[in-house]
Amino acid sequence: MVSANRGTFSRLGFVLAAAGCAIGLGNIWKFPYRTYEHGGGTFVLVYLGAVILIGAPIMAAEILMGRRTQQSPVGAFLDLAKGITGGKLWSLVGWLGVAAGFMILSYYSVVAGWTVFYVGKCLSWSIGGFAPEQAAALETDFVQGFLQSGTMQISFHGLFMLATMGTVVLGVQAGIERVNKILMPILFIILTFMVIAACFAPGFGEAMSFLFHLGPVDASAILDGVGQAFFSLSLGMGAMITYGSYLSREDSIPRATVMVCGLDTLIALMASVVMFSIIFTVPVAERGDTFSDSAIILFTTLPRLFYGLPGGAIMSPVFYLLVVFAALTSTISLLEVVVAYFIDRLGWSRRKATSIVGAGIFALGVPSALSLGANETLSTMKPIEAAGAGFFSLFDYLATNWMLPVGGLLIAIFAGWFLKSHLTRDELEQGHGPLATPHRIWQWSLRVVVPAAIIWVIAAVIGGKTFT
Ligand code: TRP
Repeated sequence: MVSANRGTFSRLGFVLAAAGCAIGLGNIWKFPYRTYEHGGGTFVLVYLGAVILIGAPIMAAEILMGRRTQQSPVGAFLDLAKGITGGKLWSLVGWLGVAAGFMILSYYSVVAGWTVFYVGKCLSWSIGGFAPEQAAALETDFVQGFLQSGTMQISFHGLFMLATMGTVVLGVQAGIERVNKILMPILFIILTFMVIAACFAPGFGEAMSFLFHLGPVDASAILDGVGQAFFSLSLGMGAMITYGSYLSREDSIPRATVMVCGLDTLIALMASVVMFSIIFTVPVAERGDTFSDSAIILFTTLPRLFYGLPGGAIMSPVFYLLVVFAALTSTISLLEVVVAYFIDRLGWSRRKATSIVGAGIFALGVPSALSLGANETLSTMKPIEAAGAGFFSLFDYLATNWMLPVGGLLIAIFAGWFLKSHLTRDELEQGHGPLATPHRIWQWSLRVVVPAAIIWVIAAVIGGKTFT
């Protein structure tokens, strides 16, 4: 069921929207922390390898499947698997994607809510002054005052869902494309200014040598690099299939893939330069030992450090605003995957799909919001040892460590082995020109390299490794 008035992005609109989908909390919240954890440059290099060898081929495959079929994931698989024995089973991969979108958005929106709260909090500090007692109380305020307050957690999660729904309901062009076209350039500009400011910070030199320092590589860094590439590039659940279905036939898929992977990586690196320049500007003794957790770095270490720097009063609220924008353009894509399913497959109107799906995801996020200390049972439950304690961690574990890698593996196998070569080649060459050799390389990487790498990751997950 392909609706006649299915939207299409403009060329720039697609790149910005897909980059907006990819660039998110993964780049600013997870990437610098992982880099820190794995000792700097080594992780950066491993990550770059994962993006080029695994991420980019899957991204091209997803966009291709979406544009070819003009459908969201379930319909795309049903269409393309016609004629294959047992072909209908492939649509389960689409289903897995819709379910993953539903789950990821439910807890992602909770964290996104924190960023909104911190814009407000930093504004009040910048205006009212930031006293040393406040610096000392930052962590208690965050963990006990904020995370443990159910009302706060649910309110900000709800607020973020409303903003996301308000965009998606307006449709592909008037909503998604327009919001991305406004927010993404602002995000680039703010971040560029922050990088320039960071160049003058005393910690800049140390930050750069940390980010480019190469040490020995261990398996856990490689596993984290691959997991991070999936999450950061929004792969494995059909988000790029859905956005690809709005890509015009005149545009080149290889070019769009390179742009989106490049922008996503660039932003992750820029965010890391800024964060590490701030962190390394402060003497070791004053940094505290709070680098133990990614949320702690972003919401307690950074504000404390910001207010000790010249210009920090301006930079800190602007920085959190940037994170809000990054998160919003990602939550929009997550909601769109699920909404597009209901529009394409069940013929619902966009308005009906957005309100019902949005309300459902909000409701599913409530247990996550309450599992950060507000509710004892939800916060301490540990049905899977490796997932850690709490409902929030459980959802993040299931989605990031299982659903995305498994989805990505099946997408790679399907596109590499089951799609006809002439079809994939035609689609990659549309709007581009002849690509005989690159097409072969792409196809064989999906057939062999990508599945082998993902199977290794999944084996590691079974062995107890987590990516969260
Ligand atoms: N990539 C986004 C980030 O880095 C999160 C995200 C948006 C995502 N859409 C997705 C992750 C689809 C997996 C699948 O924050």
